[in-house]
Amino acid sequence: MAKNNTPGAAAVPQHIGIIMDGNGRWAKKRGLPRSAGHTAGAANFRTITKYASSIGVKYLTLYAFSTENWNRPQEEVSALMRLFKQYLEEALRDFMDENIRVRFLGDVAAFSPELQALIHRVEEASAVKTGMVLNLAMNYGSRAEITRAMRTLASRVQKGDLQPEEITEEMISASLYTAGQPDPDLIIRPSGEERISNFLLWQSAYTEFVYMDVLWPDFKPKHLDEAIEKFCGRNRRFGGV
Ligand code: FPP
Repeated sequence: MAKNNTPGAAAVPQHIGIIMDGNGRWAKKRGLPRSAGHTAGAANFRTITKYASSIGVKYLTLYAFSTENWNRPQEEVSALMRLFKQYLEEALRDFMDENIRVRFLGDVAAFSPELQALIHRVEEASAVKTGMVLNLAMNYGSRAEITRAMRTLASRVQKGDLQPEEITEEMISASLYTAGQPDPDLIIRPSGEERISNFLLWQSAYTEFVYMDVLWPDFKPKHLDEAIEKFCGRNRRFGGV
């Protein structure tokens, strides 16, 4: 269990999470509005998703919009919503050909009815796909996710279906948006920030973190390779020796 990886194809982590950070700074450096950074970031979302699928990643979880991102200026939120719509429409065509299954983590009921309908269409249409699972964390916050899981279990206790002492870690995992999926092996945060920002808190108990000093729109396939190489050099002990 302790031994990590030997470099090479077999070493590709099965589940990678990425906090797509740095779009605003990318735009600012160029004297552009923040929304231009998100546009560049969205284009990169597509490139990196396809690349991850091509190298054999089984699950890719991308943090696209947090529960806190609603606090950004209205104009920026609207620009992001437009991008989600545009890229999800593209994903319907594009990722379908690549055998990618798209799932959403988060409370999508907060989005416009139009975006919600698109989200459901993408999820339904790609449900038959057998390749990489792409999890898009949208209106996602890990604390909100854990709270929701606690409510689910608490209501079972209230109904008498479950005793408090019967609650296990597996039941909690199974009540999260990521139910049935393996925990992330590697989480990458570009942009130079070194924090987790309410992303996969429960699931990342034994995840390896790689922080990179590159802004998300500039994050290329070679950066993903570099992060994987760093991951390969780690000795995962999962609390053992
Ligand atoms: C964080 O950068 C980025 C976001 C809040 C948005 C990420 C969204 C995308 C890349 C679009 C993806 C599209 C789809 C369809 C999933 P920031 O704005 O916080 O950057 P800063 O820290 O430099 O200001």
